[in-house]
Amino acid sequence: MNAIVVENLSKQYTLPKRSKGGGMGTKKTQNTQGNVQAVDSIGFKVKKGEIFGFLGPNGAGKTTTIRMMTGVLKPTAGKIKIFGLDAWKNQIAVKQVIGNVPEMANTYLSFSGWQNLMFIGELYGVSKEERIKRAENLLKRFDLYEKRDVKTKKYSKGMQQRLLLCMALMSNPKILFLDEPTSGLDVQSAKIIKQIIREYNERGVTIFLTTHDMEVANELCHRIAIINHGKIISLDTPDNIKRLIQEHQAIDIYFTNGVKRQDIEKLPTVKEVQEIKNGFRVIIENIHDSICELVEFIKESNATIKNLNTHEPKLEEAFLKIIERGSKNE
Ligand SMILES: Nc1ncnc2c1ncn2[C@@H]1O[C@H](COP(=O)(O)OP(=O)(O)OP(=O)(O)O)[C@@H](O)[C@H]1O
Ligand SMILES: [Mg+2]
Repeated sequence: MNAIVVENLSKQYTLPKRSKGGGMGTKKTQNTQGNVQAVDSIGFKVKKGEIFGFLGPNGAGKTTTIRMMTGVLKPTAGKIKIFGLDAWKNQIAVKQVIGNVPEMANTYLSFSGWQNLMFIGELYGVSKEERIKRAENLLKRFDLYEKRDVKTKKYSKGMQQRLLLCMALMSNPKILFLDEPTSGLDVQSAKIIKQIIREYNERGVTIFLTTHDMEVANELCHRIAIINHGKIISLDTPDNIKRLIQEHQAIDIYFTNGVKRQDIEKLPTVKEVQEIKNGFRVIIENIHDSICELVEFIKESNATIKNLNTHEPKLEEAFLKIIERGSKNE
């Protein structure tokens, strides 16, 4: 079952005449009237229960897409269905099933953490008893319970962000939209947020996530769409996206004592050897054959292996290559 269906979705921002040729947007996304084609005929489906990553460089169109999906912004063209409901025409019904943490959002600063949650709960029509129960659970889970009566203007950025997530979860949403939820957070706050995203997803909540943190995307997302200049240029699982740019397989190997590069190069299954810090990167065709051969060779050389691991491309490398390739093809 699909939680989200997006078809031929576009958004063009109309800029005031005097902004023509300058100001917002890149040249590529600006048409002759100076309008910005922020999202350009994109389509994708998010399955129920999926964590779907939406990645792209600054200005790619991620926030614009999320704002259209959450009923904040009217699309110029195309369709968005959230559990079968039109995101623009059925705004209220859609808001009942989604939780949203927008980019650069704020809590109500003159309210305490507790008051913020009570307010949101009331807005969503959650009963008083249930509001209290949910707020207590969420504040404890997000490590904010001790600070529940402090006004949020005194919260740090990490605390604010965690409270925003609590607010988004007060209505028990079926889909959670998160626009850069870990941006600017310390390791500890980011870790809590990652754990909770996973936890809610395991309970069946569909997650739509934008992030510039490739580790977060790699760890959490079932599938990832990469958007650039308003167009989707790649959509697959993190592993497949990494494989797309993998030109060869490699093993990184570290020894305790002197094995020569030339000797490894002579092995039949080895294509090339590169020197890396304290070891070698061995370019190969078949992991199994080469590991067996390397281990045998090292035993015979009376050397000791300190460490051996297969080298896999990082999502960040793949992301950069895909964006670069996309730009060359334009
Ligand atoms: N309200 C607006 N009016 C005019 N142009 C806008 C508006 N909001 C965004 N844009 C432009 O639309 C394009 C897409 O912006 P958007 O905020 O969707 O990008 P993003 O992928 O979220 O970027 P970031 O990673 O920096 O958050 C950019 O060229 C931006 O300048
Ligand atoms: Mg954005």
